[in-house]
Amino acid sequence: MTDVTELTVGVFGGTGPQGRGLALRWARAGIDVVLGSRSAERGEAAAAEVRALAGDVRCRGLDNRDAAAAADVVLVAVPWEGHAALLESLRDELVGKIVIDCVNPLGFDKQGPFALPVAEGSAAQQAEKLLPESRVTAAFHHVSAVHLADLSIAEMATDVLVLGDDREATDVVRALADAIPGMRGIYGGRLRNAHQVEALTANLIAINRRYKAHAGVRITDL
Ligand SMILES: NC(=O)c1ccc[n+]([C@@H]2O[C@H](COP(=O)([O-])OP(=O)(O)OC[C@H]3O[C@@H](n4cnc5c(N)ncnc54)[C@H](OP(=O)(O)O)[C@@H]3O)[C@@H](O)[C@H]2O)c1
Repeated sequence: MTDVTELTVGVFGGTGPQGRGLALRWARAGIDVVLGSRSAERGEAAAAEVRALAGDVRCRGLDNRDAAAAADVVLVAVPWEGHAALLESLRDELVGKIVIDCVNPLGFDKQGPFALPVAEGSAAQQAEKLLPESRVTAAFHHVSAVHLADLSIAEMATDVLVLGDDREATDVVRALADAIPGMRGIYGGRLRNAHQVEALTANLIAINRRYKAHAGVRITDL
């Protein structure tokens, strides 16, 4: 398995709860993290918050473009509405890099959350189409940002489905999940199967609303 403490992980949308939460946990695991933002100042402010919470860790903030250039692996943690434009604008910086997409294309109406149709099949497949020279994977769709931010939760106690067509890339992403205490990265199939993984988040949000929880997934018999 890759020694993930040798990697630099960039996080697009690192100022939001999902990106910052994963960055906080990775930084505590000894990984070098760069929080990306549309504004370098906001990125650095979020990184300062992570450092204040996590202590002596490697975490800095840059704009998304500089974060992409600095990173070996990037996590895409921006809203679905900004997904295509951001990735298209960073195609050159992401050549040859592992891209982890955790974006859930969801809509909300009176009946609650629902999966939006995506022309390419899924957010991850849209990323693959926009970044033909990157190593696109999909993971971390079902991890609660609330739990990530709550450091009184020492063990995340959840599985992470990791999808992709590049075996070595999915192994690296599984190792990044395994680096967070209580989290287990599990290969979850090819990228063409990402739609239902993204869509399952609508079910989890419905569960959370009914049971006042922050539900995740567990794969049995492994
Ligand atoms: N929240 C969760 O529990 C959770 C769990 C699993 C997966 N996810 C997925 O993770 C992604 C991020 O979730 P979140 O709750 O952290 O989202 P968020 O707070 O709405 O957005 C994250 C960051 O993205 C940047 N952003 C906003 N609009 C953008 C645009 N149009 N283009 C580029 N960047 C933009 C903003 O940072 P700057 O203004 O600093 O650029 C913002 O702080 C979503 O796609 C979501 O489906 C979330």
